[in-house]
Amino acid sequence: MFVAVISNGISAQVPRATAIVSGEAWLDSKGNRITAHAGSVLFHEGHFYWYGERRGKTIDEQPGVRAYRSTDLMNWEDLGTVLSKTTTPGDTLEVGCIIERPKVLFNRKTGKFIMWFHFEDKGRGYGPAKYGVAIADAPQGPFTLVRAERPNKGIWPANAQPAEMIASYQRPEWLPESMRIISIDASDKRYKRLIDGFNDGQEARDQTVWQDEDGKAYHFYSSEMNGTMHIAELSEDYLSHTGKYVRALWGQSREAPCVFKRNGRYYLITSGCTGWAPNPAMLHVSDSIWGPWKDIHNPWQGEEAMTRVSFESQGAMIFSLPNYKDAFVFLSDRWRPKQISDSRYVWQILEFKDNHAIINWRDRWDLSVFTPPSASDGK
Ligand code: DGJ
Repeated sequence: MFVAVISNGISAQVPRATAIVSGEAWLDSKGNRITAHAGSVLFHEGHFYWYGERRGKTIDEQPGVRAYRSTDLMNWEDLGTVLSKTTTPGDTLEVGCIIERPKVLFNRKTGKFIMWFHFEDKGRGYGPAKYGVAIADAPQGPFTLVRAERPNKGIWPANAQPAEMIASYQRPEWLPESMRIISIDASDKRYKRLIDGFNDGQEARDQTVWQDEDGKAYHFYSSEMNGTMHIAELSEDYLSHTGKYVRALWGQSREAPCVFKRNGRYYLITSGCTGWAPNPAMLHVSDSIWGPWKDIHNPWQGEEAMTRVSFESQGAMIFSLPNYKDAFVFLSDRWRPKQISDSRYVWQILEFKDNHAIINWRDRWDLSVFTPPSASDGK
């Protein structure tokens, strides 16, 4: 039992959670509501760290990124706000800016914790369309802002080049043979956003960062007015882009990217673009991180009324349990835009049918649903 102090000063027992119950109001070990929306989970040295958007009652009340720590994914200790907004006028992180979808990676080479997020400047709505990156020495922070800007300014994606460049273009060895490379004409309206992005930096809204087994990390972001996803390689220290990037899911208007890898293939679950309202998810697959990505299906199983709204949720991240085989947790948000702080979490496990991920709603579950590493060894 944890001991909670309630408002009249009397201590109360907070019972330990024994299951993950999607859609319920989740409490931390002190009995306070957990607020870590559109988040990510990182496993580090025996602990799960959950980072997410701290939200107040209204959409504008958002003090920064909150973190929690757990050993069982059910009982969470509040670590406080690990990336804070400031009250300094003109500061990039001045209260009023927007920080969404924070994702944290541990960089094995530098020993640093790197957070990437969607960033919007104060008072400018969702117009600036930037990414932010912050760094910390420890998983519990504090994180310090490194930069907030638009990515890949002055660089064309490898699979979409101006016609004059295509003429002498060498396909880079990292681009899959099956990848179509299109030639773009500056007067073609379909590519206006991409061309503007070349000049000003590409738009980056919903995003995630994902670390491959070889330690390389990639940034997936909805670009070109959320019409097309970009996939960009990160530098070895995970603090910037290398300039290698491609366009994916062209014109499909997908957001909320969540990535995982299984049996050497890359998978992506995305949502449609309908603001805070839920819509059908889509599972995409590719043999290479660079694509081409193929649509598979909406992974949610069940009644159409629920699958078409993804069980009233939108993806945030897919977390794979270290050392386990096929143990993936799909973290999603059930948004309540009228009182955003009351948004709920929908965490479900991925199952596999015909090699494709499916999601069967479970009212309650815990880590015992997965086969422990020792039992699956050698199978
Ligand atoms: C959908 C995005 O996925 C959320 O992160 C948020 O940006 C909302 N749109 C805002 O409408």
